[in-house]
Amino acid sequence: MTPDPQNVTDYTNNNTIFMVWNFKENIAVGDAFARLCKMIINLNNSANVRFPVSRASCVMGIGRGAWLRLGLPQPLPKELIDFEPIAGNKHTAVATKGDIHLHIRADDTSICYDMAAALTDILAPVADGIEEIYGFRYWDSRSILGFVDGTENPQGVDRELFAIVGDEDEAYKGGSYLFVQKYIHDLQAWKNLSTEAQERVIGRSKADDIEMADDVKPTNSHIALANVGDDLKIVRDNMPFGKMSTNQMGTYFIAYASTFTTVQKMLTNMFVGVPEGNYDRILDFSTAKTGTLFFVPTFDMLDEFSG
Ligand code: HEM
Repeated sequence: MTPDPQNVTDYTNNNTIFMVWNFKENIAVGDAFARLCKMIINLNNSANVRFPVSRASCVMGIGRGAWLRLGLPQPLPKELIDFEPIAGNKHTAVATKGDIHLHIRADDTSICYDMAAALTDILAPVADGIEEIYGFRYWDSRSILGFVDGTENPQGVDRELFAIVGDEDEAYKGGSYLFVQKYIHDLQAWKNLSTEAQERVIGRSKADDIEMADDVKPTNSHIALANVGDDLKIVRDNMPFGKMSTNQMGTYFIAYASTFTTVQKMLTNMFVGVPEGNYDRILDFSTAKTGTLFFVPTFDMLDEFSG
């Protein structure tokens, strides 16, 4: 049977709700999980029919701990591990627990809201919501740092190639590894940099989003370290979010990958540095508060899990 992936390769749109839920201890969660799987299928089908122009979808990822607790198939997806922190001399990619991740996207906020509400109705009795992030498109798809975010993402058929598990893990073909980190920025420190200095942090021009020439691009710029080769790519759909009044503006980093080792390599380059100590300058202005790996099963698997 041809695998039927969840909407992991959808292109970025205007509004997103990211949610992370952890199952409560000592209660049965199997029935709620079965209903959740059914609801994900229902909401996506319904959105396709009702709101095709809004490109609405919701993608569910499952953490390793939840996979085991729910008694989902064994052996597990080959690379579904508990993410371990990656510590550099100065900055650390922390690891945090997450059982269920919801990535809800639509051009209209109302659709995101209704999807999140329907899924919350099922989850709230059996799980604690530990993240609820309202991401928004900022101008021409800029991060809140003011730089266009997403330009070097794989396009067209490459999105499937880099985001979706293939023959290497036959039982989980069509699935995807989902890695998320919630970053909070030190926007004051960032604004104190000149535009030229900010461009040297990212490795691209700010206004028109052009990549610096290799002989000009600093080795500790974000794109110099995050680019780990043409054969090792991921599909990102980061979104800005936050509260200005409490100085908690951030970037929700989200990546889908056919193999988690690619993400790990990027994180190691960024946090440990190349060579060691030459870490990503973006981290001096961005602190990772969370870091969790999930697996995104196909719709067919969700159908099986729904009983
Ligand atoms: C590129 C922002 C974290 C992987 C970029 C670009 C921006 C950006 C503005 C340049 C445009 C583009 O190609 O998308 C951010 C922000 C982050 C963040 C604000 C969080 C504070 C990460 C993390 C990873 C990552 C954690 C990987 C684990 C990449 C990759 C590229 C990229 C692979 C493309 C590099 C290339 O081939 O040129 N990011 N990023 N980013 N980022 Fe990030």
